[in-house]
Amino acid sequence: MDSFEQRLAALDLTLFADIPAQLTDSDKRSLLAVQQAFRERVPEYLYLEIGSHLGGSIQPHLQDQRCKHIYSIDKRPLQVADERGYNVPYPENSTAHMLKLLREIDPHAEERITCFDMDASAVDPAAVTPAPQLCLIDGEHTDHAAISDFAFCRRVMGERGVILFHDPNIIYIALTGILESLQKAGTPFHAYALPSSVFVLELGGIDIHQSPPIAKMLIDNHEQYLFGLLSLEHYREVYNRKPMRIMRSVWQAWLRTKHRFR
Ligand SMILES: C[S@@+](CC[C@H](N)C(=O)[O-])C[C@H]1O[C@@H](n2cnc3c(N)ncnc32)[C@H](O)[C@@H]1O
Repeated sequence: MDSFEQRLAALDLTLFADIPAQLTDSDKRSLLAVQQAFRERVPEYLYLEIGSHLGGSIQPHLQDQRCKHIYSIDKRPLQVADERGYNVPYPENSTAHMLKLLREIDPHAEERITCFDMDASAVDPAAVTPAPQLCLIDGEHTDHAAISDFAFCRRVMGERGVILFHDPNIIYIALTGILESLQKAGTPFHAYALPSSVFVLELGGIDIHQSPPIAKMLIDNHEQYLFGLLSLEHYREVYNRKPMRIMRSVWQAWLRTKHRFR
């Protein structure tokens, strides 16, 4: 088999083959492109993720000898709130099980990973040292949680780094607020989305977007764009049904009347 370096350079999805991940193949390719570009700029890095489940998104970093430490924060609830309006069940979701799977990749996994079974807001930032430079936010998919997780990542990570968000098509309100707050504070950043659903926020002048695999995904950005829109299509479908159309015209008539008598 090719070496880790060759497989990463080829964005080889077998780097995700040992543990199931809640990621599409395109997500995996995007995450590998980010990892490759990131370690070119930060040859020895620390990785932090919020929301690890079975360890699927940890596995390519665990195989990477340049990744010096991994922090995994996962509250491990049996049901997770979600901005789409329903709870997502996570039965038998435990750190012990995740570590068992990760030990099959690296028998010394536990020495390289620090786990916190709690919400990120409850983690003592002093326990997250040395600082990670690459973070993935993939925990509770609500706007409130995404904003809180982002605040935690910014607090513990260095000035120069990358924060990734999985599923920006679900937590887009949070992302809008986060980017507005950065703009207001005059913080320079670059932000963009990669296929299928990986949102990248570059801080402190790290320019991974110039790396050829990422630059290529940014030119052919139809995949991410259409994935995001299609994931919301069922809302439009319901919104355009006859009973909803009637309710909308009643609502619009009420608004017109309200404006007339203002
Ligand atoms: C979508 S899964 C993570 C998938 C994983 N990153 C992967 O790619 O396979 C979401 C995880 O977030 C965890 N979670 C839910 N609420 C959380 C919270 N408030 N803080 C941290 N983790 C949370 C769940 O226990 C679950 O393991």
